[in-house]
Amino acid sequence: MKTPHSLRTYFDLTGRNLHVDGVDVERLVSQYRSPLYVYDLSILRQKYDLLRSAMPPHLKIFYAVKSNPNPALIRVLLEKGCGFDAASIGELYLLSRLKVPGNQILFTGPGKRDEELAFALSLGIRSFNCESTGEILRLNQIAEQAGLVANIGLRIHTESAIEETTPIIGGHSIKKFGVDEAQIDGAVDLCAKLPCIRLRGVHVFNASQILDHQALAENTRSILHTARELASMHHLKLDYIDVGGGLGIPYDENEKELDIVALGKLFDDIKSKESEIDWILEPGRYLSGECGILLTKVIDVKKTSGHTFVITDAGINTFLRPALVGQNHPVVVANRMDEEATHPCTLVGPLCTSLDTIGNEVLLPEMHVGDTLAFFNAGAYGFTESMPYFLSHPIPAEIVIEKGLTRVSRVRQEPVDYLESLFTI
Ligand SMILES: Cc1ncc(COP(=O)(O)O)c(C=O)c1O
Repeated sequence: MKTPHSLRTYFDLTGRNLHVDGVDVERLVSQYRSPLYVYDLSILRQKYDLLRSAMPPHLKIFYAVKSNPNPALIRVLLEKGCGFDAASIGELYLLSRLKVPGNQILFTGPGKRDEELAFALSLGIRSFNCESTGEILRLNQIAEQAGLVANIGLRIHTESAIEETTPIIGGHSIKKFGVDEAQIDGAVDLCAKLPCIRLRGVHVFNASQILDHQALAENTRSILHTARELASMHHLKLDYIDVGGGLGIPYDENEKELDIVALGKLFDDIKSKESEIDWILEPGRYLSGECGILLTKVIDVKKTSGHTFVITDAGINTFLRPALVGQNHPVVVANRMDEEATHPCTLVGPLCTSLDTIGNEVLLPEMHVGDTLAFFNAGAYGFTESMPYFLSHPIPAEIVIEKGLTRVSRVRQEPVDYLESLFTI
């Protein structure tokens, strides 16, 4: 079957039935029902170790929780000494519930509400990556009321950025994030006047799913340059430069894996002159993507105008990403892995909209009702990016596997479990 070569590093694709960490996925769907998200924690560990060992020691890794907020994944990364980038009060709550020390937390994202700023302050987080002068003013006021001082980084919208092949963050043209380069001076002056704001960092992130190590290194070089210029012009003592996430993983058989070792060497060459300044990377997808698989059962197979539609019990309610960003995930028939993929088909869910497509023009063996499909790379922006309540279907369980043992992380919810909460009147 046609899957990115890199998946063979993590999964044995040679047998008839797909196994994850030695466990037959057919057994998993019969035990935990379908659809089902499965995370193999040993893959997450491998990815973290790979990244950590390739990167220069002064580079700090802060996992982007938004890519997969499952506590089992966060625990693994916490154990390894990773930091975390949160994007909402919910993600901050998860981190505090898991006892992540405040100095290992950053808070980034547009539209932070007062309540979120206050909660993050109460956790003593390392820094807020601020997206606008309005946000800085509100944070100052909230910190003043709490008798605290907030360390912040200024998120900058740079004119130059890597262009994305799949539109996700938006490259240089997206202006929703951060402060324009032309407005930096005003923002820095404002910070200097505010009693409860300490400007300590610079943050730039415009592009996700980048597989070209040279483009990533070049982008980083330019971010470091911008940060240095800003620091020297305004006599700022920065303690971190945050270059965001963006490290890609292959989704297509023709895509080459990001050369993380080569990236690490280029980063080493760039070597920040100010080695006392932490250089922060916020990877999401690179860490969590490949450890996750979505399993879904085929409910119906039909031909319309000569085209085959395979209807599964997972739609965009369970797995929105392929439709949202227009990118197919690698997919196999988990119970007939050894059969040749010669039949073009479209994979759709049970929802009443033609947007409900989870695989476009996919080649698979001839499909039958009852087959199990396994979508790879579902660990990042999979469950968390979906719309589980749309059409009131069951919400899948999330399970983790480690050393062949399975544990339920999120219990499957039947519609009755969440619909009853509508009957308060
Ligand atoms: C601020 C920020 N940091 C990090 C990430 C993680 O990006 P990626 O999954 O491409 O590494 C994102 C993703 O949207 C983000 O918005």
